Amino acid sequence: MERRRLPGTDLDVSAVGFGCWAIGGEHWGDDVTDERSTAAVHAALDGGITLFDTAPLYGEGRSDAVLARALGTRKHDVVIATKVGVVFGGEGHARSDLRPEHVVEDAHRSLKRLGLDSIDLLQVHWPCEGGTPLEDTVAALNGLKEAGDVRHWGLCNYGAAALREAAAMGGVSTLQTPYNLLRREAEGELLPTCRDLELGVLAYEPLCRGLLSGRFQTPPTFPESDLRRRDDRFTGARFRRSQPFVDGLGRAAAKLGVPTAALAVAWVARQPGVTCALVGMKGPEQVRANLQAARLLRAERIWPVVERIANTWRG
Ligand SMILES: NC(=O)c1ccc[n+]([C@@H]2O[C@H](COP(=O)([O-])OP(=O)(O)OC[C@H]3O[C@@H](n4cnc5c(N)ncnc54)[C@H](OP(=O)(O)O)[C@@H]3O)[C@@H](O)[C@H]2O)c1
Repeated sequence: MERRRLPGTDLDVSAVGFGCWAIGGEHWGDDVTDERSTAAVHAALDGGITLFDTAPLYGEGRSDAVLARALGTRKHDVVIATKVGVVFGGEGHARSDLRPEHVVEDAHRSLKRLGLDSIDLLQVHWPCEGGTPLEDTVAALNGLKEAGDVRHWGLCNYGAAALREAAAMGGVSTLQTPYNLLRREAEGELLPTCRDLELGVLAYEPLCRGLLSGRFQTPPTFPESDLRRRDDRFTGARFRRSQPFVDGLGRAAAKLGVPTAALAVAWVARQPGVTCALVGMKGPEQVRANLQAARLLRAERIWPVVERIANTWRG
């Protein structure tokens, strides 16, 4: 698996990373078990994945617990990225709280749950909803870095203007943003801004929540516990519209002798400015399928053909 340096940091990460949202056991259906998740983490380690992205919100600590247990002492050989700034529990939707005292407490709770002395990459989970000035949050993050609790920090789901503002204050290293073959808005302003500011980019949802695996020939019926039940990309006209594209991708993948998911993941991982494609994986069979992206990343001559297919999508 190819490794890449996160710009401006001392962190080298695999071009494909392991996203831990699903293994938190909430919002992704009824087929998540800690045994299966543990086997997935082990398969990822064996296949050369060195970046694991978790968050306090993922199962309210469960993904951290499963990840830390599965990595064991190997947690020191990989890069663990986590997040900060969300209040959950109780009634209603989780919300952001980026007040400095909450950012610091939240980071300290993560250190404890993950059993670490220092967090490799701490990311603000989503932009402020509570009126805290960006400079106060940035000061708290830089304070955590100075104290050695955090090695580097980044932002998730921020726009280009806010990124520039944060970069002017100093300290920010990465952006995490959605990006896949069916969702390419990041190419407009975000990726050029990140290149300009020399930020690392962790691209999430590279499989469009599984749609780009080609697994769904007809609109799937997800259980109530799966957030995709309420995602209109999986129903009606939107689902039907993406199918010819996904079928075309599937035919190209078959010719290359790889799973469709591997081709979708590799496409994201090789886009200019992307440091790592973060894929959610529930079991070892998914990890092994997605790891075949590594071979595609090395096969330069296939990409002009794949790009022609990619550019047929009119989202
Ligand atoms: N910062 C943020 O706000 C934010 C937001 C979203 C995600 N993220 C991060 O990015 C990661 C990835 O995004 P995501 O998990 O939302 O979406 P994703 O990677 O596009 O899709 C993940 C889902 O696709 C399915 N899948 C994976 N490999 C497969 C394969 N080989 N064949 C068939 N199906 C496969 C699995 O679900 P099924 O098996 O159930 O179909 C899996 O849970 C997350 O885990 C999280 O770490 C961050």
